[in-house]
Amino acid sequence: MATSFQLAMAFAFSFYLAKAAPPVVSMEMEQAKANPVNMTVYYESLCPGCNFFITQELHPLWPKIKDLDLMTVNLLPFGNAQERRIGFQWEFTCQHGKAECTGNIVETCMIHYYPDTTKQLNMVACFNANYIGTLGADWQASLQNCSKTGVDVEKIKTCVTGHEGNNLEHIMAMNTGPHGYTPFIMLDGVVNPNAEDHLLSEVCRVYKGVKPPICSQ
Ligand SMILES: *[C@@H]1O[C@H](CO)[C@@H](O)[C@H](O)[C@H]1NC(C)=O
Ligand SMILES: *[C@@H]1O[C@H](CO)[C@@H](O)[C@H](O)[C@H]1NC(C)=O
Repeated sequence: MATSFQLAMAFAFSFYLAKAAPPVVSMEMEQAKANPVNMTVYYESLCPGCNFFITQELHPLWPKIKDLDLMTVNLLPFGNAQERRIGFQWEFTCQHGKAECTGNIVETCMIHYYPDTTKQLNMVACFNANYIGTLGADWQASLQNCSKTGVDVEKIKTCVTGHEGNNLEHIMAMNTGPHGYTPFIMLDGVVNPNAEDHLLSEVCRVYKGVKPPICSQ
């Protein structure tokens, strides 16, 4: 039989556990529920700074944070382009010429058909690097060269050359807000010029939940 001293100790210890341990856990759980940072980027397919951001910052970072619910990715390939309505179609005029408009539509179709961020970034980064690397010479060749990412080349070609791609690009235009330059990166709706070169640290700074360990590396 336990002595009253042992019982008192057990009682005190359980009180200590109840008092000390659970609040820490529940506090972490509450804060971990913070919304992921909404990363939105206005960009265009043949802009070197945009290509750098997508291929050297965003794409390599994504596999390291994709399971952390730290950030959501919204790519809007329209940037400084303009559009006007001609009959039932939209005509686009792009900063880096006609090839850029086509490249934007290729990526818009990829974004539409592959909403999964991992797939989307693999495809868009591959195409963008290839396309800008060949100065927008041949979008179909650049697309074909990215078949290794799992992109359905025929489906994207049909989208790009049809009404669908034209209309999807118009939606990109409508969702592109006022901006001064590209890539125009917003975190939770606030423009962040530092994110172009320091995406992870800026996302960590804006994130309202408990910072995951990657934020202190
Ligand atoms: C496609 O890939 C091949 C082999 O890597 C390369 O020689 C060719 O230049 C690429 N084409 C384009 C359009 O980038
Ligand atoms: C993310 O931010 C963009 C730009 O501010 C906004 O248009 C969009 O609605 C936001 N998305 C979500 C899911 O909050």
